[in-house]
Amino acid sequence: MLQPVRLSAPPLRRRSLLGAASASLAALALAKPVRAARPPLLVRFSHVVAAETPKGRMALEFQRLVAQRSTGRIQVEVHPDSQLYGDEDELEALRLGAVELIAPSLSKFGQAGLPEFEVFDLPFLFDDLEQVHRVTQGEVGRRLLDRLARQQMVGLGFMDSGFKQMSARRPLRTPAEFRGLRLRVQASRVLVAQMRALGAEPVVLPFGETRRALASGVVDGAENPLPNFTTQGLEAVQSDITLTRHGYLGYAVVSHPRFWDSLAADDRLLLRRALDEAIAFGNRLSAELDRAALERLRRQRRPRLHELDAAGRTALRQAVQPVYRNFEQRGGASLLAEVRSAIAAGMAAGH
Ligand code: LMR
Repeated sequence: MLQPVRLSAPPLRRRSLLGAASASLAALALAKPVRAARPPLLVRFSHVVAAETPKGRMALEFQRLVAQRSTGRIQVEVHPDSQLYGDEDELEALRLGAVELIAPSLSKFGQAGLPEFEVFDLPFLFDDLEQVHRVTQGEVGRRLLDRLARQQMVGLGFMDSGFKQMSARRPLRTPAEFRGLRLRVQASRVLVAQMRALGAEPVVLPFGETRRALASGVVDGAENPLPNFTTQGLEAVQSDITLTRHGYLGYAVVSHPRFWDSLAADDRLLLRRALDEAIAFGNRLSAELDRAALERLRRQRRPRLHELDAAGRTALRQAVQPVYRNFEQRGGASLLAEVRSAIAAGMAAGH
């Protein structure tokens, strides 16, 4: 149960009736208006991955900061693991006011009418997270967050999951090894095109159904950063992981304007600051959790880990070039140019 915060008045000193009356009149005149106790506020935050992933930990850090700073008046309820809503209905749940915050991967905004977010899915576009941040934390990122308003969303920030690796029941180091496999992808046209360019058959599935589909053989493999794999128990259903680092996975934390604009200005500020800090915490953690997952996998016999050498990387990179042309032809050319120049500007400045 949420309890409203009590505003208690300091005790009055004993004095004559007249004196007390005039003192309180004077106090009333001088005092700032006393704010009525705010009603409690509930913020439901739904996401599709495990609580121990970077996104899951970010959501819990946000919950902790908000509880502390609002002294319990604002309660953040975190629902991980698609328990409340999955990929197929979380955007709709936000629109209907069934949840107040979600953090879908950037790959999932295309199906919500924002195909420009799929630029982040282009394979081998970014070499490292620093390059990603030149985009997400700069002018291009700010404009993309603003564009969410077109689909009735308030963009509150970007967050990293990390770089994706490939899993299957065999190594995936060359286009020949991809050929003929059914590989699960998120609902992004760029990711569908990527798998086709590599010779595989893309199968779009919600995250929450991926493990079962891998276990039953409905699909042969998938792509994701290691913490997303290991927290789903992928080891039990996939024999091989190839360390391709071929693409970025990140999120946008979004709310709905109906909720966000209804907040008192100081509550909005409190939530915003807590979210910024939680995202920074999650971003620091994502590299750490990625390393920890890799170390753990290296100690295990299964799945087998395969490195991608420079020649393999070049071959995969060449094979996916049609994906870029396709993205440009669909209207993404100027955005891609801006993303590339943000990356290059950072490099020229020596960051
Ligand atoms: C996926 O569907 O593979 C990812 O978007 C899951 C996530 O939210 O990290």
